[in-house]
Amino acid sequence: MTTVAKLLQPVESDLENLLSDLRTLIGAGHPILQAAAEHLFSAGGKRLRPGIVLLLARALDPIGELGARHRRLAEITEMIHTASLVHDDVVDEADTRRGVPTVHSRFNSRVAVLAGDFLFAQSSWHLANLDDLEVVKLLSRVIMDLAEGEIRQGLYRYDTGQSLETYIEKSYCKTASLIANSARAAGVLSDLPADQLDLLHRFGRQLGLAFQVVDDILDFTGSDAQLGKPAASDLASGTLTAPVLFAMEEQPSLAGLIEREFSQSGDLDQALALVRSSRGIQRSRAMAEEMAREAGACLSFLPMGSARDALLDLPEFVLSRLY
Ligand code: IPE
Ligand code: IPE
Ligand code: MG
Ligand code: MG
Repeated sequence: MTTVAKLLQPVESDLENLLSDLRTLIGAGHPILQAAAEHLFSAGGKRLRPGIVLLLARALDPIGELGARHRRLAEITEMIHTASLVHDDVVDEADTRRGVPTVHSRFNSRVAVLAGDFLFAQSSWHLANLDDLEVVKLLSRVIMDLAEGEIRQGLYRYDTGQSLETYIEKSYCKTASLIANSARAAGVLSDLPADQLDLLHRFGRQLGLAFQVVDDILDFTGSDAQLGKPAASDLASGTLTAPVLFAMEEQPSLAGLIEREFSQSGDLDQALALVRSSRGIQRSRAMAEEMAREAGACLSFLPMGSARDALLDLPEFVLSRLY
């Protein structure tokens, strides 16, 4: 399996700087919020999203250099992502993230809500200071989409009538929008023409969707230790993801268990078993593969070099998390 460190190797030192810059950006104004944010930053996520921005910046620069504005964009991207995780874990009542206790379980929910808000607010401030209206619009749209995605996910809990399209739109909002719009913003800062900006957006969209479908499969097939967060928790909380939506087509009894919200003993285990033994996982994987392939196909315009090669390996990396 390609490790993420190997994949992001062309921007390894940039990513190291990112961590210390993020600490500086957050500052020491609010000790508890700082501790809460720091707690997650140091737990070490994959840093995939800032990695993509940095790789694009290097790929698009004629001499492969990285400017201050791209670096700041990468920082903002990771800040928004981390903020969304802090809030997502409160909503999902998850105990662990990145292998460590979540902010709300380490501190409390009040601190977690404020720490998430604090990070969103910080990211908006630094975004505005980039002084590029188009980039501001792209990334503030992401913050809207994230909220929209969480709200939609809440509204559709235990709703067995939802379509695959609904699930994909929600996944775009929750996951793909950040990757798509930050990739596009990297292109804006590099003065790319409109057609290439559209390709970068599509790249991020398809890659982000593939990433979410893979995450949703791993929720059924992975363990807590492997994932660094609670496994088998989506279905339990009524969040119906691709494997379930496909499984319901071939296992009609599944819908009944979901609709009664697993209220009888053994319901949840039975539902999990039905999903795992159906073709739902396989069909979800095929869908993720197609999305990943489409993502890769958007990048052929990039100039040759190690940054481009790394970006072209990303779709395969996203899928390799399943093996
Ligand atoms: C987690 O994203 C949220 C999803 C979109 C599934 P990552 O798996 O990239 O999280 P970190 O940043 O590496 O912890
Ligand atoms: C994707 O949703 C994440 C966010 C944008 C916050 P999930 O709910 O699937 O993320 P995990 O599984 O908690 O990482
Ligand atoms: Mg979650
Ligand atoms: Mg998940």
